[in-house]
Amino acid sequence: MASIRIFRAASRSFLLSNGQAVSRQLSTKSSSIKSRGALLVGSALGVSIAGYGLYKSKTNSAGKDLSKTVQAIFTPPTLSAAAPPASQPSVWSPGKDHALYLWIHVKPTASPREVAKVAAKLQKLVDAVVDPALKDEDDEVLAGVGFGPNFYAQVSGKTRKSYVYPYRKGSLGEMPSSGGDVFIHAKSNQISKLFELCQLFIKSLPKDSVESFEDIYSFVYQNGRDLSGFIDGTENRADDEGRQQVAVEKETGGSYVITQKWIHDFNVINNEKPKTMEAWVGRERGDSTEISKKSITSHVARMTGGNGFEQPKPVEIVRQSMPFGTVGKEAGLFFIGYAADPYNFEFMLDRMVGAGGDGHSDDIMRLSKNVKGTYWYFPSQSELAKLA
Ligand code: HEM
Repeated sequence: MASIRIFRAASRSFLLSNGQAVSRQLSTKSSSIKSRGALLVGSALGVSIAGYGLYKSKTNSAGKDLSKTVQAIFTPPTLSAAAPPASQPSVWSPGKDHALYLWIHVKPTASPREVAKVAAKLQKLVDAVVDPALKDEDDEVLAGVGFGPNFYAQVSGKTRKSYVYPYRKGSLGEMPSSGGDVFIHAKSNQISKLFELCQLFIKSLPKDSVESFEDIYSFVYQNGRDLSGFIDGTENRADDEGRQQVAVEKETGGSYVITQKWIHDFNVINNEKPKTMEAWVGRERGDSTEISKKSITSHVARMTGGNGFEQPKPVEIVRQSMPFGTVGKEAGLFFIGYAADPYNFEFMLDRMVGAGGDGHSDDIMRLSKNVKGTYWYFPSQSELAKLA
């Protein structure tokens, strides 16, 4: 697996067998951001972007990037000084065509330790679904597992930061606090592999340990748009090193994660004036151009802490959200973000529901309803191994 991942990442950074990135300084945040919206609009040119604004290279060891790869492998990488312990594969890797979001509540009578033992062997289950000796970028599965605060406290003790998700309510809607014990985020270009992984994981858990679970399968819509038609992920960090910095707690290699299920209101999306919706988001729908004079209630202004043009961001997260659902029943955005500090989520959520100090709520809540949400801790690989 390690060699395949090195091939994939060779043009931007090395991914060592222990999962750490070694930057080769080939990408910078500003250049990648500037190019992303335009590239998505130019998807006719054959540029492929994953659901949260990342390019996917379809080139593998047999592809045209081989010379670069060989050169990269024989050039000794420079280790970045403060690399955190290795995080799980889902945390800051690029997106794929599909994701599995598996949200599990365990029974109060279940043994958390026994459940955690299965979770700690997630990579073994991934390897059972996709033979590590054979897989390539198209069927590989990048997976990670996280735990709710009560569950993790029982199996491992304390995290460095507390991550309790409070119920929130604002003038445009509420954010229920749904709890949960174990959460799996897995990405693959083959949705069937994700389905298999979910089946296998649920089957591997101790008998009678599951109270309830929900498995959601997402897809890339129109090369990286949300179902509202807006490009999602424009301001996400695209370089591996930047994503790692934002998503991973330096001391532990762990990551705090927010998950929220949003159901879109297609009556609003299909009938509201395009200009009004652009004002709600703070970006143009066609190419994600930032609106220079935006409302303080626009989504971008809420998330960045102000309505200035290219407002400096006080906090950042790595978003890996993707569309899900069916036309017949319900559809929307499965929101998932990773951060080194759960405060970053708190800052954003408070500003969405009018609890950010200025009393304003986020207009994005006019087109979508939040029905479920919570926080998780995704331990580093070594922390996870201790639970086995
Ligand atoms: C229905 C729910 C949501 C939808 C449809 C949505 C959609 C979008 C869109 C279209 C953008 C602009 C393009 C981009 O930079 O990606 C955006 C930006 C962003 N969103 Fe959301 N979003 C939703 C919920 C959330 C939530 C719950 C959070 C945080 C907890 C969040 C955090 C952000 C951040 C940090 C940005 C980047 C702001 C910037 O730096 O300009 N979003 N979102």
